Amino acid sequence: MKGLHHPANDVPLNPSVLPSIREVIAQTHLSRRRFLHSAVRAPLLASLGGLTMKGILSAMEQPKSPVPRPHPVSLGFQNVPPNVLPLADAVAVPPGYRVEVLVAWGDPIAHGAPTWLEDATQDASAQATQFGMHNDGMEYFPLPITPSTAPASPTDRGLLCVNHEYTHEEVLHGAEGLQPPAPMTLAKARKSQAAHGVSILEIQRVEGRWKVIRDSRFNRRITGNSRARLSGPAAGHDWLRSLRYDITDTASVEIGRNDGLTAWGTLNNCAHGSTPWGTYLTCEENWNSYFALPKPDLNLPHPPHSQPHLDTVQGNARRYGIGPQGSGFRWHEVDPRFDLRQNPLEPHLFGWVMEINPFDRHSTPVKRTALGRFKHESAQVALSPVPGGRGYRVAFYMGDDERNEYIYKFVCAGIYDPDQPAAARDFLDEGVLHVARFTPHPSSHPGGFQGHWIPLLPDTDSVIEDVHVPGRRLKLRELPLFASPTGNDRDVLARILIQTRQAADAVGATMMDRPEWMALRTYFDPQATPGSLPTYNDARPLEIYCSLTNNNHRGGGGQYPVTSVNPADGSAAAGSSHPPVDVANPRPDNLFGHIIRWREQDHQVTATLFEWDLFVLAGDSRSKRTLNTTAPAPAYDPSTALPALALTDVYRGTIGDVPPSSADFGSPDGLWFDPFGRLWIQTDHQGDGQGAWINLGSNVMCCADPVTREVRRFLTAPPQCEVTGITATPDARTFFVGIQHPGDQSKAADPDEFSAWPGSQFATNSAGEPLPNGPHRRPRSAVIVITREDGGVIGA
Ligand code: FEO
Ligand code: CA
Ligand code: CA
Repeated sequence: MKGLHHPANDVPLNPSVLPSIREVIAQTHLSRRRFLHSAVRAPLLASLGGLTMKGILSAMEQPKSPVPRPHPVSLGFQNVPPNVLPLADAVAVPPGYRVEVLVAWGDPIAHGAPTWLEDATQDASAQATQFGMHNDGMEYFPLPITPSTAPASPTDRGLLCVNHEYTHEEVLHGAEGLQPPAPMTLAKARKSQAAHGVSILEIQRVEGRWKVIRDSRFNRRITGNSRARLSGPAAGHDWLRSLRYDITDTASVEIGRNDGLTAWGTLNNCAHGSTPWGTYLTCEENWNSYFALPKPDLNLPHPPHSQPHLDTVQGNARRYGIGPQGSGFRWHEVDPRFDLRQNPLEPHLFGWVMEINPFDRHSTPVKRTALGRFKHESAQVALSPVPGGRGYRVAFYMGDDERNEYIYKFVCAGIYDPDQPAAARDFLDEGVLHVARFTPHPSSHPGGFQGHWIPLLPDTDSVIEDVHVPGRRLKLRELPLFASPTGNDRDVLARILIQTRQAADAVGATMMDRPEWMALRTYFDPQATPGSLPTYNDARPLEIYCSLTNNNHRGGGGQYPVTSVNPADGSAAAGSSHPPVDVANPRPDNLFGHIIRWREQDHQVTATLFEWDLFVLAGDSRSKRTLNTTAPAPAYDPSTALPALALTDVYRGTIGDVPPSSADFGSPDGLWFDPFGRLWIQTDHQGDGQGAWINLGSNVMCCADPVTREVRRFLTAPPQCEVTGITATPDARTFFVGIQHPGDQSKAADPDEFSAWPGSQFATNSAGEPLPNGPHRRPRSAVIVITREDGGVIGA
């Protein structure tokens, strides 16, 4: 997210559904295999949809692209020119490709949902049954073939789980909007809350057309007010016992205190993840923006237990970025749940990864506290076989998207047995959360560097010295933020997880340039047999990529001189530090961002050592910008990072496009490997075609070859939107891609001032139904469908 109206950040699922989980597991067999055998996808694909091995090989090696490939790489499409001024109000894709709208904000989803009205006068109850606003991360789960759905196949029948990150209040609330002097009302807050969360919808390709199955028994909306469960080491902790409200259309009425095991709603669901056992993970990112602590010096009326909790509330508000007035949503003005003076512990119920069983509409989502609490961007699973044993170890890679925050890995304690997926239903409750430290020490692999995963456990050494014993470092359990009054390490661990950022500060993790999505590099292996284990070796390492979208606070030569790092005592205000450049974040004033990647030692997800390198520095190779010379010279040594990069070139990047400058991009965000090993990169910058973005234009989706590093531009977006969210059918012949917040700067009085997309481009959606395009034109976030006119693999 970087919309104008978005705050800057510059299972068992439910014990009661156990029987249905088994049913789900049976249903998701194909999906499980898809995750488990990422290295052996070809046979699986060959078993789907009539694909043959020969067909797959030809798709990869001899693409039937309408445009001949100029180079022997796996990118077989024609580079799309940037969408520069005057901006086209349309999505553009290469010749030979088709783009359509599958589902847009307001489309009916749940049973009985009304048709969207383009004057945006519908209320919260309608919105709670319609597709939410500002779709982001998403995942396609194939559905099984049944007699009633034949002749459909898993490649043309599935569930789409879609996050809704935030709302554009000026477009959401009809002609009145929300900006003062427009009055704030509870009705507006409720509609906004209903437009957040997650949508789960069945989609099918019928006679070649993708359509939403409106009466599907799977369809579901989860909103900012839906009931959820908290589980894992922090569940039940006193700090999670916020006030409980009876949440109705007309009021939030206090009815006691939550039990620490229950939460209400999920917010700012940015990117996502999924598990080998067939569940969807939704990640709570800028949840802080819905809360307000109007006067932090006030005595809170509901200190739940003892005075230190006041410090906790205020310290966490500062470290996680809760301000005195919120971030423009104004919920706290009408809903006491979001006013910290009245409900100080409610923020502790947000900032988690939430697990959803998409196959059971009645299951309760679960916030998994073991994965830590921060501004979660995404959660990328990876598996490695137990050396010399049976089963797999499982890890999830995660970023905290704010300037100067950290990269994390959660290693599940259990051994995953693909034949016993039901046993994994609570895998996310036990394990160890780690945070990354990137070092400049060269690795054994030329061009690489070493890194360490630091466990966030009570016994872990902090970087803070014991003043009484020189040379001794204090353990996390000994620091005031995490110490347990009763000396109980379970209590310490809960405090670490609720205050993950501060724990990472204390152990000296590496401050990064806004970690966004993680992507697991997968491999096409035509030799593998169905059901064989994923194997990693030197030729096919376990490799994770992470986009670092930008950081205008990275010090030296930019707007800010080098002045500060996140203090080890956890007292930083969110995003406030101006760290020096370092080997993993080598550019001062990192306007365009970069992509980092790492390989775990011995190809094991449990490793505490890894090697890393930088995949690409994004940028504009024609940029005329130079560093601000009035700032102090940066402490920057190119010889330790990218020898070819001179300080005068910091905005130009290292993108390998052919011809040069043909596929420059900035602010990488969405990141995903398709089953054939192509890396797809989605961008999220603000300033389409102006200023620093004069050459790059609107946001884009690019495709990169991870071996040659060649990049091509595949898609350009309408004005003032970001491209975010990507998933595909198992055969990679249909892509689903998100277009979020078109016309982001528009006001209620003139909603289509900057964009009327998708109505500006399409008369109908992919099912052939008319798209509203009447007098109340307003832009709508939407999921698009991309296919090839010849039915081939996307990108090949
Ligand atoms: Fe919601 Fe970090 O993008
Ligand atoms: Ca994002
Ligand atoms: Ca972003």
